[in-house]
Amino acid sequence: MFAVHLVAFYFTKLKEDQIKKVDRFLYHMRLSDETLLDIMARFQAEMEKGLGKDTNPTASVKMLPTFVRAIPDGSENGEFLSLDLGGSKFRVLKVQVSEEGKRNVQMESQFYPTPNETIRGNGAELFEYVADCLADFMRTKGLQHKKLPLGFTFSFPCRQTKLEEGILLSWTKKFKARGVQDTDVVSRLTKAMRKHKDLDVDVLALVNDTVGTMMTCAYDDPYCEVGVIIGTGTNACYMEDMSNIDLVEGDEGRMCINTEWGAFGDDGALEDIRTEFDRELDLGSLNPGKQLFEKMISGLYLGELVRLILLKMAKAGLLFGGVKSSALLTKGKIETQHVAAMEKYKEGLANTREILVDLGLEPSEADCIAVQHVCTIVSFRSANLCAAALAAILTRLRENKKLARLRTTVGMDGTLYKIHPQYPKRLHKVVRKLVPNCDVRFLLSESGSTKGAAMVTAVASRVQAQRKQIDEVLAFFRLTQEQLVDVQGKMSAELEYGLKRKTHALATVKMLPSYVCGMPDGTEKGKYLALDLGGTNFRVLLVKIRSGRRSVRMYNKIFAIPLEIMQGTGEELFDHIVQCIADFLDYMGLKGAQLPLGFTFSFPCRQANIDKGTLIEWTKGFKATDCEGEDVVDMLREAIKRRNEFDLDIVAVVNDTVGTMMTCAYEDPNCEIGLIAGTGSNMCYMEEMRNIELVEGDEGKMCINTEWGGFGDNGCIDDIRTQYDTEVDEGSLNPGKQRYEKMTSGMYLGEIVRQILIDLTKQGLLFRGKISERLRTKGIFETKFLSQIESDRLALLQVRRILQQLGLDSTCEDSIVVKEVCGAVSRRAAQLCGAGLAAIVEKRRRDQGLEHLKITVGVDGTLYKLHPHFSRVLQETVKELAPRCDVMFLLSEDGSGKGAALITAVAKRMQQPPREN
Ligand code: BG6
Ligand code: BG6
Ligand code: GLC
Ligand code: GLC
Repeated sequence: MFAVHLVAFYFTKLKEDQIKKVDRFLYHMRLSDETLLDIMARFQAEMEKGLGKDTNPTASVKMLPTFVRAIPDGSENGEFLSLDLGGSKFRVLKVQVSEEGKRNVQMESQFYPTPNETIRGNGAELFEYVADCLADFMRTKGLQHKKLPLGFTFSFPCRQTKLEEGILLSWTKKFKARGVQDTDVVSRLTKAMRKHKDLDVDVLALVNDTVGTMMTCAYDDPYCEVGVIIGTGTNACYMEDMSNIDLVEGDEGRMCINTEWGAFGDDGALEDIRTEFDRELDLGSLNPGKQLFEKMISGLYLGELVRLILLKMAKAGLLFGGVKSSALLTKGKIETQHVAAMEKYKEGLANTREILVDLGLEPSEADCIAVQHVCTIVSFRSANLCAAALAAILTRLRENKKLARLRTTVGMDGTLYKIHPQYPKRLHKVVRKLVPNCDVRFLLSESGSTKGAAMVTAVASRVQAQRKQIDEVLAFFRLTQEQLVDVQGKMSAELEYGLKRKTHALATVKMLPSYVCGMPDGTEKGKYLALDLGGTNFRVLLVKIRSGRRSVRMYNKIFAIPLEIMQGTGEELFDHIVQCIADFLDYMGLKGAQLPLGFTFSFPCRQANIDKGTLIEWTKGFKATDCEGEDVVDMLREAIKRRNEFDLDIVAVVNDTVGTMMTCAYEDPNCEIGLIAGTGSNMCYMEEMRNIELVEGDEGKMCINTEWGGFGDNGCIDDIRTQYDTEVDEGSLNPGKQRYEKMTSGMYLGEIVRQILIDLTKQGLLFRGKISERLRTKGIFETKFLSQIESDRLALLQVRRILQQLGLDSTCEDSIVVKEVCGAVSRRAAQLCGAGLAAIVEKRRRDQGLEHLKITVGVDGTLYKLHPHFSRVLQETVKELAPRCDVMFLLSEDGSGKGAALITAVAKRMQQPPREN
């Protein structure tokens, strides 16, 4: 009995001594609670740094957005392929996710070796090897020729801008294949797969193993919002609020962030806790100076740390009687599995002895106890460090949610965590100590990260299908070069029909003579009134032209024309106009002044003279009764008479295109074309008199108001009109009319967009499938909103805000789609407009028999002026379709009122008999 006690006492004493010895030797590796709290705080700061736009580039903890936005909701289904590369084992899998709503996942998998020469050789060969394994798997499983989506678990740091792309930032752990860093690993894999004719695989998602693990666990436990790997390497991911992720647009919902915490300390932040063993290990690694936190924690390094410590202790005579074996001197001879075995509860000591003997050593009982304790200190430090970083993440989650207590689940995986007998328990305990206000459940991912990767792929494949539907709709708006050339050709033909007496009556492009024959020559002078009716704004202006200086002074006032007047009776409309003139004269202190007036009237008028214009038909938003077929100058005169307050000398009625051309020609005599891309769309140009069959005389030129808005009214461009154009036309004031205008001008583009959005919503692709009252409201997308939405300078959030202001409750995803729809519609408009313009400049070049034509186009209109891309696309199209014309675009800054006044001045001069000297 006594002897037993004595042995026990002896043993306890021996153990105590050894433990004390090791504790002293490894003093620096034992981290106090205080130190852990400090590390936790440092990691919190690192996360903040990694998330910030300005601080991210220099942050060592990269906090990589993963583009995984939600945890599984059970609606995922389908059959997927999966690759799992980067952990201790490489696997290819087929995952079948149940369709019956029951959470049911079936997997078939196959492991493949990853020889060092493959993972550290040539990058292209690595991906070829991966593709070969995949092809082999598909053959064995009889899956050849089956088209399946693939989720790629790739356990290395990748910078992603979307789910299906990832630029490798650097290799970590055991991998170091050449020429892969800084390239997109998805394209690398896709390229390698192309060599297999029978492989038809779409890589839809690239996920880090932490993300896969989190998703795997979240499939079973919806509270899971963190994924941690403690295996060959170590890392964690968690769900972060979008509003905190500077690097990704949008602020709603959450996105999973791959922290890449393994790199914590790479900037020196952990130098105070790193030991000489850590430094030595680092120097001998594949990536010196990198992944310093990982090297204190993960399975690839733990055994080696132990070996370096034992070696040093042996050298110091503290172990094995100072004897070192050659195995102990050899890098990599102690592995994590040995550390785990040595720390086993019961067999631990026996295992230790066995392992040491295998290393060619002759350990004493005391040596075994000491070695076992070295293992404990090293693996305990690992668990402590992981716990500190994890505690920082949990605290962040709790603070994001503004909760006093957080209930959450952490999905766990990795061989060290799985095979080490004490690791999980220690980790859990320390985490709970560091964050007492979190109730944490640790859930081991039994099936690895692939189940989760399949969930991500399932969502991606649903998104892809939706994307395809959206693309199909927008494809109708993407015009080919041939289609544009065809439009140009048809426009050319229509221009000729309109000019010829025989065909004029049936022509859709009316080619109306304007009786404006000359350009201002700089001698014009005097004070004129001008009216500008038919664009976005109705204006009354006073224009003072100073002769010789080519400068004018203008005063103007904008007046509103209420809808009920635009669409009331003609008398009401003209009375209102005269009322506005009276107000203006009053305002300018010009009551009673008898000034000559130029009337910009932006609708199609048949003119028999400069001061006579019979309205052919209303266009755009006007529909006042009793005007069509009437002379608008007469109507204005009568309204002035009815008021009986003042008299005005109405000298000229001009279309806005003509006014615009004149405004610009005053500055640039080469300006012989006027273009409006605004509420409506139209163009005028200077034509040879001999080509204008409707007007007598062959000398000189006259400006023709083409009224090209009516192009296509005979159905000649129906091949490019879409169902949305038809819907917009049917809902307009003039169905069947102005078809080209309805595809190209501001008043209708927003309506086309609205019709597309309604359709996409019906298909469940937008606004959660709900068509709001607001979306049913005509005219909500005015040109200025389209222009704002498409502005490149605008962040997604701002787009969303505009849509919300318009009463459309849109998510960021919705906003992206809306912006795209706007882009497709406005681009088509600009291209069509460009094709029309190309037809005119080419005609002018041909008519004049020129090899090259140099011409200026005066332009006005809110679409051209406000839209961020319209003018550029228009100009590019003209350049492409009329390569022999050098077309300059001159923006009319002063509106068409100035031009109208100049025309009035010229007309006035013509009216007066030449003064005798
Ligand atoms: C596996 C996952 O279970 O764990 C892998 O499926 C992951 O994706 C691995 O990389 C991590 O552990 P280890 O120990 O294999 O590196
Ligand atoms: C203005 C002109 O600048 O532009 C008007 O003065 C013209 O005459 C108008 O009708 C066209 O643009 P919008 O976009 O106002 O129709
Ligand atoms: C390394 C990789 C990281 C991975 C981890 C666990 O740290 O850089 O991406 O998640 O190992 O496998
Ligand atoms: C409409 C009118 C036309 C005008 C154009 C631009 O197309 O019919 O006359 O020039 O709009 O305002």
